[in-house]
Amino acid sequence: MSDRIHSLSGYMHEYQKSVQDPESFWARIADSFHWRKKWDKVVEWNFETPDVKWFVNGKLNITENILDRHLYTRGDQAAIIWEPNDPNEEHITLTYKELHAKVCQFANAIKAKGVGKGDRVIIYMPMVPEAAIAMLACARVGAVHSIVFAGFSANALSDRINDCQAKMVITSDGNFRGNKQIPVKDVVDEALEKCDSVETVISLKRTGQQVEMTEGRDIWWHDAIEGVSSENKAEEMDSEDMLFILYTSGSTGQPKGVVHTCGGYMIYTAYSFQNVFQYNQGDVYWCTADVGWITGHSYIVYGPLLAGATSIMFEGVPTFPDAGRFWAICDKHQVNQFYTAPTAIRALQAYGTEPIEPYKLDSLKVLGSVGEPINEEAWHWYHDHIGKGKCPIVDTWWQTETGGIMISPLAGVTPTKPAYATLPLPGVQLVILDNEGNELKGNSVEGNLCIKFPWPSMLRTTYGDHDRCKQTYFSTFPNHYFTGDGVKRDEDGYYRILGRVDDVINVSGHRMGTAEVENAINEHPKVIESAVVGYPHDIKGQGIYAFVICDMEGRSEEGLIKEIKETVTKIIGPIARPDKVQIVPGLPKTRSGKIMRRILRKIASGDGANLGDISTLFNPEVVEVIKEGANK
Ligand code: WTA
Repeated sequence: MSDRIHSLSGYMHEYQKSVQDPESFWARIADSFHWRKKWDKVVEWNFETPDVKWFVNGKLNITENILDRHLYTRGDQAAIIWEPNDPNEEHITLTYKELHAKVCQFANAIKAKGVGKGDRVIIYMPMVPEAAIAMLACARVGAVHSIVFAGFSANALSDRINDCQAKMVITSDGNFRGNKQIPVKDVVDEALEKCDSVETVISLKRTGQQVEMTEGRDIWWHDAIEGVSSENKAEEMDSEDMLFILYTSGSTGQPKGVVHTCGGYMIYTAYSFQNVFQYNQGDVYWCTADVGWITGHSYIVYGPLLAGATSIMFEGVPTFPDAGRFWAICDKHQVNQFYTAPTAIRALQAYGTEPIEPYKLDSLKVLGSVGEPINEEAWHWYHDHIGKGKCPIVDTWWQTETGGIMISPLAGVTPTKPAYATLPLPGVQLVILDNEGNELKGNSVEGNLCIKFPWPSMLRTTYGDHDRCKQTYFSTFPNHYFTGDGVKRDEDGYYRILGRVDDVINVSGHRMGTAEVENAINEHPKVIESAVVGYPHDIKGQGIYAFVICDMEGRSEEGLIKEIKETVTKIIGPIARPDKVQIVPGLPKTRSGKIMRRILRKIASGDGANLGDISTLFNPEVVEVIKEGANK
């Protein structure tokens, strides 16, 4: 594709064009894709209702752009290289031709089970090529996939299945992760006790562990594709038909199903992938995320494959069999672009440089970072020891809701600055607003990060509850999309993300709503009330700190704390397990009964000496007691 930006002046030129005439800009980019029918209008939008449509009345199938389009030009090139958890197991390469055949075959298999356009399908799988095949097969038949990260509990899984009324679940018997073998199908079985929409469960045999198969509902993947044709004509989709739902945490209660649609998402993920990573034909690209998160959707599967890239999928963890595994894989597959999260960098940094020494890392050209602010120390370590001082770092800021990278250097094009996401991509119109909604113009300003014009891969709604989408993203600042992040624009006009300004915490790059964790804690029968806040954590970025009021009768503190942590693991999953639980006699509240989280955040951060004036609290005396018990 010819929409590659090669220089800083080229970037500025494209950016200007994208703002002055967004319609012509995006029409030009979209022109190089395969459309069954071209759009009538590039964009229609209203940020009040909100209602956003891109490439109106365009008809397409995203998998034709990923698979069929590449068959003749790069049919024998690797599309996916899969690296297993155990380095002694053979890796698997799927060429574009092979991937095409497998997706078509599995598409036929799910169709035979009654899954068609508009039906929702839950994918709850480890990082195996079949996870990507399942996603693309859904997209091929027009079904809406919703991937649930395989670390979520049965309870979290059933909530998501019920919310979208899924007809099918695609899963595996188990999951290899490091030296652990994790049950996966058992979790699905437990979840399905509370769901009645699911008609079929397809399970991939991965670990070979014992699982129950329910007659009439469950079928093995290998049986489902037995004798099934590898030819499939893709369903014709409207630009604005749903492509997938991905559940994510917000500042209140239940996770919400962020909805992405076909046309705009396709254009933006491909465009941003090529420009941010400066991918060249023949390069090997590796993103270490899990397909259960948006990064895996947009930058392991859709973006790279749309661009005809070779994308690595890794089943395991960075520290198995040792802390050199990432670097071993980089050398083994001659990785050119490597994209990971600051939490992984910090975790590996803690092992020192010894695990890196056996490896050359000389194929690397670009390093990427995503999911949370990267601190300067980690940035420099990554730059010096992994990139050997010669690889630009693209610190990419974006969200599940934005679908694609919004603020980032273009590798080798935009001069970088440690801990800065730098500049917006073409088409991304940022504004910084103060808490009253006034725009802060010029440089050297700090405030709420908002976006004032639609971009093709933005969320369209939250599944089944459009009002929630409006309230969450479009009501805080009328006529603007509000990101929930604080940002600084420095004297050079560069953007630095300062972190969330709402009640969302970012644990190891995973978003967690404090209310969600509180709800889980409150399920414990001895818990009366709880308040959860984030605090700085060396490896995870932020840790989860829970202040809990309990009925202690006949119970030890230690036992209760353990049970509370286990309750959260059971209700949400291990990623939400609090790092610290402190049993407290009360929570600091205002006279109107609102919990003063600001005070709790300070105490959790070890900054209890600087609480400011607390005399207006309803119960100031409780603050001293909490301070004394904190961080013990
Ligand atoms: C945070 C992940 C600083 C931010 C793609 C955002 C970042 C949330 C960065 C979205 C970055 C993501 N620098 N913070 N480069 N990238 N974030 O939906 O707070 O899992 O709002 O999407 O992660 O998390 P999500």
